[in-house]
Amino acid sequence: MKWLVTGGAGFIGSNFIFYLLEKYPEDQIVCLDKLTYAGNLETLEKVMQNPNFTFVKGDIADRPAVYALFEQEHPDVVVNFAAESHVDRSVVDPGIFLQTNILGTGVLMDACRKYGIQRYHQVSTDEVYGDLPLDRPDLFFTEQTPIHTSSPYSASKASADLLVQAYHRTFGLPISISRCSNNYGPYHFPEKLIPLMIANALNDKPLPVYGTGENVRDWLYVTDHCAAIDLIVRRGRDGEVYNIGGHNERTNLEVVKTILKALGKPESLIRFVTDRPGHDMRYAIDPTKIHEELGWLPTTPFDEGIQKTIRWYLDNKPWWEHIISGDYQNYYEKMYGNR
Ligand code: NAD
Ligand code: DAU
Repeated sequence: MKWLVTGGAGFIGSNFIFYLLEKYPEDQIVCLDKLTYAGNLETLEKVMQNPNFTFVKGDIADRPAVYALFEQEHPDVVVNFAAESHVDRSVVDPGIFLQTNILGTGVLMDACRKYGIQRYHQVSTDEVYGDLPLDRPDLFFTEQTPIHTSSPYSASKASADLLVQAYHRTFGLPISISRCSNNYGPYHFPEKLIPLMIANALNDKPLPVYGTGENVRDWLYVTDHCAAIDLIVRRGRDGEVYNIGGHNERTNLEVVKTILKALGKPESLIRFVTDRPGHDMRYAIDPTKIHEELGWLPTTPFDEGIQKTIRWYLDNKPWWEHIISGDYQNYYEKMYGNR
């Protein structure tokens, strides 16, 4: 099978490529990535020489380039990870989120229609469901939960989902969509909560917690997400949406304190800063459908996964130090300078 994996130089896409190459050594993988600030070729270094892996630098919204790639490679399956993925950036500059996340998705699906495909898979997010109240722990997102977005990021992801479903109904394009909760693990860009807090703690810098730190996220170890996508692409029903999550809810403050404790750093490093505009309170996934239809279950509980992740950041300092010493520093000042 030949896979086109877009956004494969980012966090989840790169982990997905490693997962595929290990599990299906006979499969071929083409990675299309624009190498935005979030794309990092250092991440893919260990697979660049693999004869079954090809890296192509390009933009999913660049129609001629995408068509030329399909013409040359004729992938059997497309898994679209490519996106602007950081909520805070979408508050500062929504435009690129609309361009990549919505228009780019449209271009990819047009190419799938033109050249033929066995399955187009859209990697979506639980953020399309909006948020749940903190005082209703009995509520979870199911696939029937109405779309109700909060940020330009989540609105762009929801728009893409609607477009994917429209291409299925109108043109009969074979598609699937997965909506996953917050991922964590190796190669997570240090602008997101967990890697940012690990890096700051190791550098004895303040840990910026938005608002009161009571917001809840439902954390999933990245390899469990990769396994779920693989299952959906191979065995999931055409046209369906599958939620992915492992019932690992934690408040942000709990996560931050866990990291400080594991690193032997004091809680006095915590700084409560101005809240994120439109900040979602709680995400929580009901994964019954993917479990009952495809037999998927997460294998890494949060308490184990967070220790593995902290260990990875300790063992791979050059990876995140290279990022922090570059453009990221300016971004950090812009985001946190006035908080
Ligand atoms: P990331 O920001 O780490 O990586 C995104 C990758 O996409 C980067 O390599 C970047 O260079 C590439 N990219 C951006 N714009 C592009 C374009 N126009 N053309 C080609 N490549 C482009 O993101 P991530 O956290 O790995 O998320 C991957 C996908 O999973 C996204 O679609 C995101 O919405 C979704 N998702 C993420 C999470 C999470 O917790 N991180 C959870 C659920 C769903
Ligand atoms: O739920 C899936 C989503 O998870 C994905 O669709 C997004 O691509 C991904 O970025 C992630 O979104 P979040 O906004 O939940 O992740 P983030 O790591 O930015 O923030 C997690 C929580 O931590 C959130 O409540 C905001 C808070 N936070 C974040 C940062 C960066 C802080 O308190 N301080 C921070 O510095």
